[in-house]
Parts: sequence; structure tokens; C-alpha cells
Amino acid sequence: MTAIQVDRLVRAQALLRRKNIDALLVSQPHNRRYLSGYTAPDHGIQETSGFLLIPGDGQPFLLTDSRFTLQAEAEAPLYRVELYSKGLIKLLERLQKKIGFRALAFESDYFLHSAFLRLADFCAKNRLILRPESGLIEQMRLIKDEDELRLLRQSTALNEQVFQSVHRTIEPGMTEREIALAIELTMREMGAEGPSFDTIVAFGTNAARPHAVPTDRELQAGDLVLIDMGLVFKGYCSDMTRTFVFGKPDQTYIDRHRLVRRAMLAGLGAIRAGVTGAAVDRAARQVLADGGYGNAFGHGLGHGVGIAVHEEPRLSPRWRKQLRAGMVVTVEPGLYLADWGGIRLENMAVVTEQGCEVLNRDTTGLDL
Ligand code: GLY
Ligand code: MN
Ligand code: MN
Repeated sequence: MTAIQVDRLVRAQALLRRKNIDALLVSQPHNRRYLSGYTAPDHGIQETSGFLLIPGDGQPFLLTDSRFTLQAEAEAPLYRVELYSKGLIKLLERLQKKIGFRALAFESDYFLHSAFLRLADFCAKNRLILRPESGLIEQMRLIKDEDELRLLRQSTALNEQVFQSVHRTIEPGMTEREIALAIELTMREMGAEGPSFDTIVAFGTNAARPHAVPTDRELQAGDLVLIDMGLVFKGYCSDMTRTFVFGKPDQTYIDRHRLVRRAMLAGLGAIRAGVTGAAVDRAARQVLADGGYGNAFGHGLGHGVGIAVHEEPRLSPRWRKQLRAGMVVTVEPGLYLADWGGIRLENMAVVTEQGCEVLNRDTTGLDL
């Protein structure tokens, strides 16, 4: 990975120089991993596993505590590991004297207010300029390189293998929680780092909640089953939803399922470089509206996927920026009816100049 991290570091430092930033403090865990290769996650924003301190040029640093020294040194060989045994501010004071930065930027989308107050106090005392920055490294992550695309394809393929192996074992009497647990166990057995989000398994009316939490409800013949799952493979996320009926679907289900599938195909068909996220969302939303379910689809059509399972770009009415080749997005239309249930179908696709490359191969529940 080091060649990739060299390239990313060079690009990040060029970006800092263009913006007259002398040093950037990176606190967001995905940005940290993207730039350095250091994989330790945060256990919530109050439990950081470290920061990168990246100067506009020269030696970058990875600031952490003794729990992570060995891991940081092994995973981020480009970075000099420094421990903040007396607190982050004391370490920054020492490094400021060494590097001599005047304008320090921090990631305002991922920084505790209490830590910000300490940082602001430190900067004021030392006559440093403190600059909040939003989305600097996230912008770099928008377009995936060939290695990232390969990992996203592998992540998707593995996710589908897990889905199919658990799908074969589903039988009446199993609970939503049992299926979700089997999925997450199988992910790890098959080599994933873990799920990319809490697995959603919902039967019948429970599927009317787009982000349903699995319950002890038991599966009965004729229930619709919605499974939304994703895993992390070598740092890269997958995300897929399938909805099917356990047993024989009735005509109402078939009609609604076909409509959602048409919406997914319309969304995928609208994707290409230069089109806005809002236009892709509209293409799919229109299909649901024309079918009489305009009010049954509340969330956005999709989102970017990479090191994070939810990242930019967005396919939503509010996203007016254009898609670019190399972005990876989900397309996940759904319809949700409180007294009936829900259907969502979700695939991932790479944006290309002419259209898109769909990453999914699994056809479970798509063949009605
Ligand atoms: N699991 C949430 C999503 O599909 O985005
Ligand atoms: Mn999903
Ligand atoms: Mn999704």
C-alpha cells in the first residue's frame, strides 16, 4: 500500500499548499486510514485512535497513544509516530516548534467542541492561525483509483457470497436476529473485517422501516423478507439490499416489486459522468410516482461508497453537483407502507463517461 500512500500524501500536501495551510490535523478515521494506511477505528468521537499532522511539505506525523504504537508504526511507515502521553496540546506545542507552522487547519466535521476550545486556546497563545476545514480529504476520496475499484468489486462479490450462503439456510421459524447474526458471523468467517453497518433483516410490516433493527419476529411462509447488508474487505465497503418473499408472492407484492425494480433500473440507466445526483434521483423517483407510490419513498436514491459506507456523492434531490467517472454509488429505491411492509432493492455502480458499471451479480429476488 505504501506507493498509494505516497501518492495520496503528495496530493494532500499539494492541496494544503494551494490553500495556504501550513499543517493539517486529520481526526476523521476514514481520512486517517486513506492517507496513512493506519486502520485503527475510533470508538466514537470521544475515543480517538489518533491524528495525522500533515505539514505542507516534509515529514508527516501520526499522533497517538501507547496502545497503538506498534500498529501505527507497522501500518503507516511513511509517518513518524509520536505519542501524546501528556495530551494532544503538549505534543502539538513541541511539534509546532519543530516544524514551525503558522496556519493550522483541523477537520471541522469531525472534531469535539471541547477539544476545539483547547486547540483554539493553544493557537491564540502562540499567535497561530486556526482554520476550520470541511471536506478537504473527503474530496480526494470521491474518485476511486483502479486499486480502490478492485477492492470495491471484491467487497461486493464477497458480500454476495455471504448473502447467498445464508439465503440458502433460511427457513420458517428463524428470527430476524438469527439471520442477521448468521450473516455477520459468515462475513467474518469468509474473510471480511466485519459488517460495514448493522445488518438489516426485516420481515413483513417490519420492512416498512427503512432502517429496521432486527427483532425476534419469526419467519412465516408468505412473509416478505428485506435484507440490507454490507461488509468491509481490506478497508472497502459493500452495501446491497434484496427483498423477496419466503414462499409464493401474491400479485400485490409482484406488482410493487416490479415497480421498485423498474425504478432501480431507471436510476442505474440515468447514471453517467456529467449528470447531477439530483437528476439520477429524479429518474428513479419518477417511476415510483408514476406507479402511484410517490409518497412511499422518503429517502434519497443513493450515496457514495468507499472506505466509508456512506460518503459523497449523494443521489438525492438536494445534490446538484455533477457525477464524475470513478465515483462509486448505490442505487436503492424503495417503497414503504406502514401497514404492509417495504421493498428496497440496492446495487452499487461505478460511474463511467458513458454510463455505469454495475458491481452486483446476485439476482435473488430480482427476477419477478
Ligand atoms: N444500509 C443503509 C444503506 O443502504 O444505505
Ligand atoms: Mn444498504
Ligand atoms: Mn446504501
